[in-house]
Amino acid sequence: MKRTIIITGGAGFIGSHVVRLFVNKYPDYHIINVDKLTYAGNLANLKDVEDKPNYTFVKADICDFDTIYALMQREHVDGIIHLAAESHVDRSIKDPFTFARTNVMGTLSMLQAAKLYWESLPERYEGKRFYHISTDEVYGALEMTHPEGIEPPFTTKASSGNHLAYGEAFFTEDLKYQPHSPYSAAKASSDHFVRAYHDTYGLPTVVTNCSNNYGPYQFPEKLIPLFINNIRNRKPLPVYGKGENVRDWLYVEDHARAIDLIFHEGAVNETYNIGGFNEWKNIDIIRVLIRTVDRLLGRPEGADMDLITFVTDRAGHDLRYAIDSSKLQRELGWEPTLQFEEGIEKTVRWYLDNQAWLDNVTSGDYQNYYEQMYKNR
Ligand code: NAD
Ligand code: TYD
Repeated sequence: MKRTIIITGGAGFIGSHVVRLFVNKYPDYHIINVDKLTYAGNLANLKDVEDKPNYTFVKADICDFDTIYALMQREHVDGIIHLAAESHVDRSIKDPFTFARTNVMGTLSMLQAAKLYWESLPERYEGKRFYHISTDEVYGALEMTHPEGIEPPFTTKASSGNHLAYGEAFFTEDLKYQPHSPYSAAKASSDHFVRAYHDTYGLPTVVTNCSNNYGPYQFPEKLIPLFINNIRNRKPLPVYGKGENVRDWLYVEDHARAIDLIFHEGAVNETYNIGGFNEWKNIDIIRVLIRTVDRLLGRPEGADMDLITFVTDRAGHDLRYAIDSSKLQRELGWEPTLQFEEGIEKTVRWYLDNQAWLDNVTSGDYQNYYEQMYKNR
């Protein structure tokens, strides 16, 4: 095999798309998916690649240093794409310790194992790469300012052309970290450890900070899949606060393509922000979701608007996220491929066409998949 790469968190939402892309695109790479299979890990996300000869699944906790180090030695691992994390802000508010354990200590364990293994080789760090996947939430929240006399969303110019924005400032790579939630604080801390391993030991690292992803296989506790499922089942849609918060949405396969590009061509010790210049107020997305689900299910379009239920706001709810991805576009030529309307239509269709997947996840049955498919292999 030309390369042997560990992808952590490959049974999760984004990880499963990255594993699928790498396994299919690089038959001469050995892709090892390391995942603990927490509530968010679902091997059914990877059904279509599980029998490919260049794919291996290893059930392991990234905090288990001995197991990770032994795996790297045994398999001669030369690349790591690290996605495993606790990822849901609402859960981090209830249980911050789990987030510190996995996101901080787990990342440290991955870094230390890679450092010790690669330093033991004659060529040391040559041809090696440690790629850490992070979030735009480390930068904190942006204001919703606008030029005098112009109501948001207003048109603003970026390297990719004109786009709509709810504020004049954007997250750029040189911005100070100001995380607010336990989730983003833990991710920020892990980012610092990654950079410290480069600066202290010379580990060949790269970090990316991406905006909110959407698409198939997302665990239905996050806004888009949760609301699609609730609309389908005519259940209330719990909108935090007034639904005025703004998020910047990227189709998950565009993120996976960016990861592929940066893993291969990104510069060592660089940071790249990934986003599609696609800001939306939550309430506007929710209305689009309702209209789309209604239309695809043959209901009168907008019939389910009465499911919108305003509930108590999330504690410390960040007002606005907006990524400036012009560095990635300029330096590596990455562009998002899907318009949001197209991506949302595709996503809603996927969840409606894959009701068995959704029902399996919401019932908890998916957690038996590993026992059935892997235990006795
Ligand atoms: P997810 O919650 O869907 O998946 C996380 C995966 O990590 C699961 O398969 C889970 O089983 C695994 N995992 C958790 N703890 C583990 C541990 N201790 N050891 C091994 N595996 C473990 O998350 P996601 O949305 O796919 O996010 C993946 C990464 O991308 C995260 O690092 C997240 O911070 C980052 N990110 C996510 C988004 C987004 O919108 N979802 C945006 C930007 C960045
Ligand atoms: P989420 O999908 O949890 O992503 P993040 O918090 O990482 O941005 O939430 C997206 C937005 O939707 C966020 O502003 C919170 C809001 N939201 C709701 O209003 N209701 C909900 O039930 C959920 C899960 C999220």
